[in-house]
Amino acid sequence: MVPQPTAGPFFFGYLPPFLQFNYYMEEKIKELLEEIREFRADSKEHLEQFRIRFLGKKGVLADLFARMKDIEPAMRKDYGMWVNELKVKTEEKLTHFRESFESTDESGFEGDLTLPGEYMPLGSLHPITLVRNRIVDIFAKIGFNVSEGPEIEDDWHNFSALNFPEEHPARDMQDTFFISLDPAISLRTHTSSVQVRVMENTKPPIRTISPGRVFRNEAISARAHCFFHQVEGLYIDENVSFADLKQALLYFAREMFSADTKIRLRPSFFPFTEPSAEMDISCNFCGGKGCNICKYTGWVEILGCGMVDPAVLENCRIDAGRYSGFAFGMGIERIAMLKYDIRDLRMFSENDLRFLRQFSGI
Ligand code: DAH
Repeated sequence: MVPQPTAGPFFFGYLPPFLQFNYYMEEKIKELLEEIREFRADSKEHLEQFRIRFLGKKGVLADLFARMKDIEPAMRKDYGMWVNELKVKTEEKLTHFRESFESTDESGFEGDLTLPGEYMPLGSLHPITLVRNRIVDIFAKIGFNVSEGPEIEDDWHNFSALNFPEEHPARDMQDTFFISLDPAISLRTHTSSVQVRVMENTKPPIRTISPGRVFRNEAISARAHCFFHQVEGLYIDENVSFADLKQALLYFAREMFSADTKIRLRPSFFPFTEPSAEMDISCNFCGGKGCNICKYTGWVEILGCGMVDPAVLENCRIDAGRYSGFAFGMGIERIAMLKYDIRDLRMFSENDLRFLRQFSGI
């Protein structure tokens, strides 16, 4: 409420009383205008309080209008204009906040909704994830599902069921991180362990691929790491032949690299396949002419494969007289390195954003 004129600041004391009063009122009205300008309603109730304070029967404006008669006649016109200004500003505020409460926004928000949003840096898929997804998609098209197994394995699933006899030198090819020796529990050295788990638990026909992380006690270099990723493939049914294996892998190589990619199979050895082979693809950098990627041979090795050894089928309670199948296993890093011309395996696990960002558009 407007204070009584007699309560005016003492420094007006030298003015004649009627001027003191007018001067004081002018100051007071300026303060009230400022109060209205700064007012923000946070709710409808708050706005109503504001309305009553200024426009109510006993409100500020009613009081100021009532004082008109006390104002020096010469000053009344100016005084009337100030009070009117107060009234107009009060009504403008009321209209503004009433409209904003009528729209859905209850907060009386006055910000500029057309301003650009705050920048949110977007991440991207890791190249290993991209390649794994691509492999999964390619095999999904020919009826393969995805299966996964644990990264910590017992000796049976990682070695014995896969026909690696104890003390057999083939175990040395996969230098193992043991968690305990008796019983032998280790970090899996390959995803072939998932084959065993699937065969133990599924009746043929089986068509599955098993992507996952594997671990080997290798010195870290541009070409080797103590952990990396593999995708295992397994197909078990009646009358599955080596020709089926070759055709499935040719399809994969062409989908993954390019339609004119050639493959070749070289005899090899794995305890769990018989016969076993390693597959090369024609070098996708030089088209087979010879370059430093393919060491001037025109071919690069990408996976191991073979017909599942009947002993493995029997270990997993599958009738080897009735069923046969093929299996293959490849390193995801290796495929990614060949596809994107990455020369150092360590790049995949160093989290260097300059490297990772290059895959954001893929
Ligand atoms: N497990 C093998 C390794 O890590 C790769 C492999 C070779 C998997 C032949 C297979 C296969 O399924 O048939 O070296």
